[in-house]
Amino acid sequence: MTPLAEMRRCCRSYDNGRIVALNDASLVVGRGEFVSITGPSGCGKSTLLDILCGLEEPTSGEVFFDGQPVRGRAAWARLRAARIGFVFQSFHLIASLTVAENVELAMLSQSRSARQRRDRVAELLDLLGLARRPAQLPMELSGGERQRVAIARALANRPEMVVADEPTGSLDSASSAQIIDLLEGLQRSEGIAVVIVTHDRGIAARCDRRVEMIDGCIVRDTQPAPERPKGMPA
Ligand SMILES: Nc1ncnc2c1ncn2[C@@H]1O[C@H](COP(=O)(O)OP(=O)(O)O)[C@@H](O)[C@H]1O
Ligand SMILES: [Mg+2]
Repeated sequence: MTPLAEMRRCCRSYDNGRIVALNDASLVVGRGEFVSITGPSGCGKSTLLDILCGLEEPTSGEVFFDGQPVRGRAAWARLRAARIGFVFQSFHLIASLTVAENVELAMLSQSRSARQRRDRVAELLDLLGLARRPAQLPMELSGGERQRVAIARALANRPEMVVADEPTGSLDSASSAQIIDLLEGLQRSEGIAVVIVTHDRGIAARCDRRVEMIDGCIVRDTQPAPERPKGMPA
C-alpha cells in the first residue's frame, strides 16, 4: 500500500516532560486505508491523531505526508485545508451558520467560484442525506445529523485522508452505525484513508487495520491478513 501519512518516532510531552502523552510512536497510514486507534482514556489517542495531521507539534520526531516532511504551522495549515478532513466528537460546527454555510466555509480557502462551491455543497448534502435541510441551524438538528454536516464539511475539498476523533462518542447506537457506514463507504468508494479514534470495539472490528495504544505507546498494530490468491486453500 502506498504510504500517505507517516509519523516517525514521535514523542509529545507536556509540563516540562512530566506528562508523556506520546512515547516514540511510529505509524504509516496507507492511501485508502481504514484504520482504528483504540486504547484507554488518556493513553494518547487524540495526541497521536493531532500530530498525524499537524494540529499538534511533536516534541521530537517527524511527520510526513505524501512522502514529504511537513514542518511549521503554515505548511500544515495549507496541507490540512486542501488534503485532510476532520471530524470531532463534539461536531465543531459554527452555531450561527446554516448547514450549507458550515459546509461552504471549508471551501473558502481554496480557489473556487461561488457557483462551484454551491454545486459542491448541494452534492455533499445529497450524499449525506441532508439535501432537505440546507437552511437549518446546527441546533435544529439531531446529533447524528450534525455529525453528517461535519462529515460533509470534512469532504468539501476532496481530501485524501479523513481523521475522526471519537466521531460517534456523543451519538446513540443507531446514529453511530450510520456514521460508521458512511465513513466506510467513503473509504471504499472514494479511496479516502480514514483514521478513527474510538472506544467502540465493534467499530474497531470493522476497520481493516487496528492500532492499539497504552500509556502513550503503540502496543499493537494488527494488519489485515494478506489476500490469498484465488484457488489457494485457506
Ligand atoms: N495540552 C495538554 N496539557 C497537558 N497534558 C495534556 C495536554 N493534552 C493532553 N494531555 C495529557 O496527555 C495524555 C494523553 O491525552 P490524550 O491524547 O487526550 O488521550 P486520549 O485521547 O487517549 O484520551 C493525558 O494524560 C492527558 O491528560
Ligand atoms: Mg481523546
